[in-house]
Amino acid sequence: MATSWNGLSSVFNLAEENYVTLITALAFTVLWLLRSGLSYFRCRNRLPLPPGNFGFPFIGQTVEHLLAMRTADGVRQWMQNQVEKHGPLFRYRFVGYPIVMMSQPEGNKFIFQNEGTSNHMFWPSHMSTLIGPQCVITQGGERHKLVRRHLNRFFDRNAMSRHIHGVNRNAIRHFTNHWQGKEQLVALDMINLYSFSIICNLALSLEEGPLMDKIMEQFHPWSQGGYCLPINFPGFCYYKALKARGLICNLLDGLMKQRRRQIAEDHVPEALQKDILNRLLTVPDEEGNFHQDSFIKDNLLFLLFSGYDTSSSTLAMTIFYIAKNPHVYKQILQEHQLIVDGKRSNGEDENVMTMEDISAMKYTWGVIQETLRLHPAVTGTYRKTVTDLEYEGYHIPKGWLLNWNNQHSHYNPKYFKDPLKFDPSRWETRPPPFTYLPFGGGAHFCLGFEFSRMSMLIFIHHLVQNYSWSLVNSSYNGPFIRDPFPRTQDKVLISVKQLISSWMF
Ligand code: HEM
Ligand SMILES: *[C@@H]1O[C@H](CO)[C@@H](O)[C@H](O)[C@H]1NC(C)=O
Ligand SMILES: *[C@@H]1O[C@H](CO)[C@@H](O)[C@H](O)[C@H]1NC(C)=O
Repeated sequence: MATSWNGLSSVFNLAEENYVTLITALAFTVLWLLRSGLSYFRCRNRLPLPPGNFGFPFIGQTVEHLLAMRTADGVRQWMQNQVEKHGPLFRYRFVGYPIVMMSQPEGNKFIFQNEGTSNHMFWPSHMSTLIGPQCVITQGGERHKLVRRHLNRFFDRNAMSRHIHGVNRNAIRHFTNHWQGKEQLVALDMINLYSFSIICNLALSLEEGPLMDKIMEQFHPWSQGGYCLPINFPGFCYYKALKARGLICNLLDGLMKQRRRQIAEDHVPEALQKDILNRLLTVPDEEGNFHQDSFIKDNLLFLLFSGYDTSSSTLAMTIFYIAKNPHVYKQILQEHQLIVDGKRSNGEDENVMTMEDISAMKYTWGVIQETLRLHPAVTGTYRKTVTDLEYEGYHIPKGWLLNWNNQHSHYNPKYFKDPLKFDPSRWETRPPPFTYLPFGGGAHFCLGFEFSRMSMLIFIHHLVQNYSWSLVNSSYNGPFIRDPFPRTQDKVLISVKQLISSWMF
């Protein structure tokens, strides 16, 4: 061995160590050539990118998309146009990000089922700053699981039987304070008060009053921020949204300080010991760490927000459709009368609600589901691929975003016959899986699903029992605005009449 080394080195007239260097360099060169050759080969055989076009650099379809998102028809038609041009799987660009829209049920399923492995939760950075970089919905993977488990005890099915009495009391008080004696009212404004007060109650034990109003005022400018151009400069709506966020956080800071003092003095009133704020302040996470203020604020703020606008918009639109469809009103009334009659004949207090009552509101729930099909508060969100993907014969590069979306399937006659018609009777049967997604799916499926279902049904229960209502503009048929949540132009302006019969007997 040594001789041949020596022989060779004399041929090339090289010192032995130089010779080793040369061999190593050669080996690396060969490896490098092999590797780039392989990747060249792979590239040539690589599947095509999904169809579609990215438009202008960075801007892409941002402006067109933001404009379309202002009305229900706009979003629906934007989707329809893209699908007609490119098919249901297409790429587009939004605020700089390359995105693949997966609008079919199989595509949505693919996203949800691979969450945490080949894709992760993702928010464009301007959205994540606005929503809260530490809040449950902006987390991915293990961190998300940990945060979600921490909050889940307030939102799982079992928790609902603990919350229902508080929500019911709140509902009755709401009607007494805000509906009784009125002839005309803006339904969305009233329902905003209801939704916000029940979530404030659950999260912070905060009752209706000046402080609650002050927090609530900031939510509208804040939530609009996600649908603005991300320009943080005075005068722009994104700037206003960040400012609103700051104000809400200051108010939450005050509440946290006050509660910390009560905890330190062991003086927390019993009613407050069970709210979300108290838990976040006193119970460490599974790794034994107490939460930082920024974590607590991000999560409280998001819970207040998600418990508020989404449910309010849905309830207001439900009230709109009930007023438009007298046969629906009649059928709902019947369902709730049956529940009350049952309580009366059992000698139970008819103003106390149970989870069995909620389960009995099947038709009413169908009416709400139908409203959410036509006007889902959330149409879709993004995930980010963490590996290169092959899907349906296309190549999706690592780092691109995937968009799950309900706008294609909610209006697809294949899944919902006569899709533009408001028809609660279609909910007598279940739609095919992954065609109906107002609450999302997968690991981030709406945490407040049970809570919003229960609180919306309780609201309708008291409403139909005690009031009849009609639209002031009975011919209203659009536009259905999204700002960013669905509403009518007049925020569902209604004339109301208190039903005397139910008090007389
Ligand atoms: C009609 C009412 C509601 C609708 C349509 C709705 C819709 C949604 C949707 C679509 C998602 C998933 C987002 C995604 O996958 O990117 C979601 C997540 C979430 N929702 Fe709701 N929501 C409603 C009510 C509520 C309420 C009342 C609460 C709380 C009190 C709530 C709390 C949450 C939370 C915390 C998440 C994040 C879950 C996670 O990231 O693991 N939602 N919601
Ligand atoms: C009532 O609704 C119709 C149909 O959407 C609309 O054309 C009309 O302007 C509305 N009237 C008022 C007074 O808002
Ligand atoms: C509705 O009317 C019934 C019967 O008078 C009454 O017991 C109940 O408190 C009323 N509920 C609301 C929310 O006004």
